[in-house]
Amino acid sequence: MPLLISSMTGGYADAERINRELAEVCETFKIPMGVGSQRQAMENSTYHASFKAVRMSAPSVPILSNIGAAEVAQLHSSDRIEKIIDLIEADALYIHINPLQELLQPEGSPNFRGVLVGIERLVKSLSIPVFVKEVGAGISKQVAKRLLDVGVNGIDVAGAGGTSWAGVEILRNKEQNSVLQFWEWGIPTVESLLQVASLKPQFDFTLISSGGIHSANDIALSIAFGADCIAMARPLLQTLIQSGQLGLEKKLNSLSLDLRRIMFLIGAPDCKSIRSAEVVKK
Ligand SMILES: Cc1cc2nc3c(=O)[nH]c(=O)nc-3n(C[C@H](O)[C@H](O)[C@H](O)COP(=O)(O)O)c2cc1C
Repeated sequence: MPLLISSMTGGYADAERINRELAEVCETFKIPMGVGSQRQAMENSTYHASFKAVRMSAPSVPILSNIGAAEVAQLHSSDRIEKIIDLIEADALYIHINPLQELLQPEGSPNFRGVLVGIERLVKSLSIPVFVKEVGAGISKQVAKRLLDVGVNGIDVAGAGGTSWAGVEILRNKEQNSVLQFWEWGIPTVESLLQVASLKPQFDFTLISSGGIHSANDIALSIAFGADCIAMARPLLQTLIQSGQLGLEKKLNSLSLDLRRIMFLIGAPDCKSIRSAEVVKK
């Protein structure tokens, strides 16, 4: 199944259990997994175990490191990033671009000056691929092009329609009524996917669809719209929290079965062939 469990957690005590449980399921299903932002792990080693648990529990699947673009903008070399990559023996690095989230968080740091230069430096100096993702507000064609121009290997659109960080902030700081208007801010996942997919003829990169993916139908549509892989975050975490690892395994089995049902119905012998399916917009 062309699915990965997207970056969510690490850097506090209970994250070790959550990451271990997610990673064990990833190992069983042979699907890649991203860890949450490793900013905390760059500062001190107190919760390194919460990140290491992922590689220890999923020795054979691709694991993605994660750091914010705001941190990348501040760095002058790749040394500190190499350390967080080594910590989990990561196969790729996810850099998250999250202006909406940083802007609305009272403790956020919306200072991205120098970020493209920082990303380019990492692309050139790291030995693993560098992917850039949003966190729920989508990536436009123009932004994707600038990222691909500096050599980024993959884009995860993480569009609007799923987890909303404006929503999280509204729930955290109940008095901030003015931010209500940002709850659904961003480029919807399908729109972002279509925009970024239009760069495929020009650039060789991995396109990941995410942001509100819930069903096998969402997965099939993403592939039809040009995605190479699909990422899910909140729905899988919620399933783990509510129904444990068995519940998560059941959900992944049912996604896989439903995807194969769709492939049968459209005559696609493999996932790549879904791309040639004609999608009719009603
Ligand atoms: C609980 C939670 C924590 C997250 N933490 C991170 C993070 O640390 N780094 C990151 O790049 N994205 C983070 N995200 C964003 C997800 O990786 C993903 O891009 C986004 O939630 C969209 O997917 P979804 O709609 O399936 O949740 C987080 C999402 C959730 C739900």
